[in-house]
Amino acid sequence: MRISLYSSKPYEKPFLEAVNAAAGHELVHLDARLSAATASLAAGSPAVSIFVGDDASGAVLRTLHAGGTRMLALRSAGFNHVDLAEAERLGITVARVPAYSPYSVAEHAVGLMLTLNRKFHRAYARVREQNFALGGLMGFDMHGKTVGVIGTGTIGEVVCRILRGFGCRVLASDVVKKPAVEALGARYVSLAELYAASDIITLHCPLTPETRHLIGAAALAAMKPGVMLINTSRGAVVDTRALISSLKRGHVGSVGLDVYEEEGDLFFKDLSAEVIQDDVFVRLLTFPNVLITAHQGFFTREACEGIARTTIQNVSGFERAGLAGVPEANRVTMRLHA
Ligand code: NAI
Repeated sequence: MRISLYSSKPYEKPFLEAVNAAAGHELVHLDARLSAATASLAAGSPAVSIFVGDDASGAVLRTLHAGGTRMLALRSAGFNHVDLAEAERLGITVARVPAYSPYSVAEHAVGLMLTLNRKFHRAYARVREQNFALGGLMGFDMHGKTVGVIGTGTIGEVVCRILRGFGCRVLASDVVKKPAVEALGARYVSLAELYAASDIITLHCPLTPETRHLIGAAALAAMKPGVMLINTSRGAVVDTRALISSLKRGHVGSVGLDVYEEEGDLFFKDLSAEVIQDDVFVRLLTFPNVLITAHQGFFTREACEGIARTTIQNVSGFERAGLAGVPEANRVTMRLHA
């Protein structure tokens, strides 16, 4: 089957080509991001594959459908960038990669915590300048600190396990309580208690209408002064403007972000010679206590291999038997994800 892959980057191509060698699909790698302007590039492709920065809103899906596309293979777990209602109306099957090395994102989130805490990024630059002074680099023991984990699904559970290994007290919040997480010693509490008691808060819930701007002005004000906030889930779970106000007041102590509300126009591109027009993002970059990575939580060899394997399997399953050929856990439908 011909698959047009939007936002296809050189680093993922070898993984996709290797897995596809046995499946034999025709892979059309497109550097372009899927949008209303680029949707017609996929004309003639029954399957289209997209990544997190692509736009699969209603109008875009209608253009894809008019060009013959019947399947959308997401190379991601998150599906907030797809208009599922319109996909169903058009009869486009949507499949995702529900799990691929949860360790990649979990370890990245903990890496952000350790870097912000022990200031590795500043120490590295300092030592290269032959400045061996320690002023300003003091951190705290992770051992004994309270960490709030919001969303204890596949990734959140691994985060809980790693943090328990450090000797942290873990408070959790989720719409579903997982016995496996409680068995690790984490305790489910209300969001109010989690905000009030946590020294570090890390977000691992999906972006849904309920979680959009979950971390807004009220939530931030309810957190401990000096709290460290980590977001590796989706940018819009945090209200960035409210976060900036809190940082300016000195209430939030430090922030590690792997995702940003408006990242679609920025991330996965080299803009080093451009003038960035997003003033909110540029303001974030000015804080010494904010550390941003450009959506690289997923970016390990193991995760990229897993993403490629499941993506190709999803398309092969669809080619064989339509929606029924896609493993149930990988299907994204309104019914399953309401
Ligand atoms: P998952 O579906 O296994 O877990 C999500 C958890 O969030 C579930 O337990 C769910 O019940 C919970 N949840 C849903 N609504 C909630 C709410 N209102 N409050 C608290 N919890 C809520 O997903 P997984 O694989 O653990 O991924 C989590 C998120 O991480 C994804 O949705 C995606 O947005 C993000 N992600 C980021 C990546 C990166 O590279 N930075 C890569 C992969 C995923």
